[in-house]
Amino acid sequence: MKLNTRILPDIASLSRAVLEETLAIIQEAVAKRGRFAIALSGGHTPEKMFSLWAETAQYRDKTPWDRIHLFWSDERYVPENDPLSNYHMARETLISHVPIPAENVHPVPTNLSPPEACARAYEADLLKFFGAEPPAFDVQLLGIGPEGHTASLFPGSAALDEKLRWVAAVRVPAEPSQRVTFTPVVLNRGRNTFFLVAGENKRDILSAIREESATETSQYPAIRIHPAKTPVWFLDAAAAG
Ligand code: 6PG
Repeated sequence: MKLNTRILPDIASLSRAVLEETLAIIQEAVAKRGRFAIALSGGHTPEKMFSLWAETAQYRDKTPWDRIHLFWSDERYVPENDPLSNYHMARETLISHVPIPAENVHPVPTNLSPPEACARAYEADLLKFFGAEPPAFDVQLLGIGPEGHTASLFPGSAALDEKLRWVAAVRVPAEPSQRVTFTPVVLNRGRNTFFLVAGENKRDILSAIREESATETSQYPAIRIHPAKTPVWFLDAAAAG
């Protein structure tokens, strides 16, 4: 399949490009709907974007923080202070450095047992914020893993075929193995979808998905995400090859 790519020389310029695109969408969303909702991804790739957002006056001061709402497309089932927590990473790099109201930060709960209870609680949070229709995020950031997973949707996962639930608790073949993730019911509604992909170790999976033709049934979850607006794949030169 042909990917809609933007290739940048390195992770810093990739992060700036995603951020500038996001800031433009923020202005538009706030003007139209009075608020901007973003689904953040986990993993390491977005760290640079988050820290640039927090540290660069030009980006930080242009952001109407009281209108910004942060959500997560997936979370690891670990306590919120665990270094493996996606919320923890965003808190350290972004949230604790910017004047965003606490009530605008919507982490996936991970303190309920079993993980399924966390999925249901997050769905309830989403319902409260977005109403009865499945959420359509103004921006959803996603990454890709070496076997094609995105969010915590791994190859072969039943959650990929979910038609009703917005959020699923899943067991994945990676550490930590228990996770909570948006299902395609949500991810297929994103208004803007940005994949952030950096590093040489992403080259093989990018070549593999470029060879794929079908998206609906692909073995690679990342390309089963097909919102109306075509996702943009932000690649650094090392990943693009
Ligand atoms: C997670 C994710 C996951 C991630 C990819 C890429 O919680 O692990 O959200 O889908 O985005 O695995 O991770 P890297 O950016 O670390 O390569």
